[in-house]
Amino acid sequence: MPVLVVNVDHVATLRQARMGIEPEPVTAAYMAEMAGATGIIVHLREDRRHIQDRDVKLIKETCNTRMHLEMAATKEMQGIALDVDPEMVCIVPEKRQELTTEGGLNCIGREDELTDYLAPLHARGIRSSLFIDADPRQVEAAHAIGAEYIEIHTGHYANAKDFKEREKELTKILDGIKQAHYLGLKINLGHGLNYRNILAFKDVANISEYSIGHSIMARAIYVGLDRAIRDMAELVRGFAD
Ligand code: PXP
Repeated sequence: MPVLVVNVDHVATLRQARMGIEPEPVTAAYMAEMAGATGIIVHLREDRRHIQDRDVKLIKETCNTRMHLEMAATKEMQGIALDVDPEMVCIVPEKRQELTTEGGLNCIGREDELTDYLAPLHARGIRSSLFIDADPRQVEAAHAIGAEYIEIHTGHYANAKDFKEREKELTKILDGIKQAHYLGLKINLGHGLNYRNILAFKDVANISEYSIGHSIMARAIYVGLDRAIRDMAELVRGFAD
């Protein structure tokens, strides 16, 4: 059964807007678990625009499920991951100027570099995932790197301007899922998923996790965090195995 992992970055975004102490992402993570999240995700960006180092440490310490750390493939982040010991790292590309992660990681031609980068993390027992676009060459490269998971970037699908473009992007994702599954990779999906567009994956098998943040936090403003997470967790629970 696929599961929901909740990204709490935007709780920290709101806190950092005033550089204050609330809302507290650690509390949000605890509430997310109580509401049915199977795991918590935090993206520690190099510019620390939302999640801070202490959030990562505290969530890891207090988390009753599992914590995944999204991060760029830098030396600094590798050191933090080895120190904090999350259940999984998800390697993402990072650009300082972007509003959010805009595209998948380029794995092509970086197979050796990324294999070496992940080696100490794997040796520590940390699982790895590579956040990639649904491009067959990226899936192949990710497979060559030896990460256990890929996370297919659903942002292009979620942000498609019209029906035709959305269908095109959805087909790419579905093909990517088939290819990755054939190669023995485990598959997560994330970015831009909301309570409506996620329904396209209802009958799609072989998806391990849905990684969702923004739409849940947006809904939480109106209905509360507990309800927003329960609604999404219930949707995902009804999806194909
Ligand atoms: N997966 C990855 C790799 C991401 O970078 C993000 C955004 O931080 C998400 C999932 C969650 O995306 P959203 O906040 O749009 O649900």
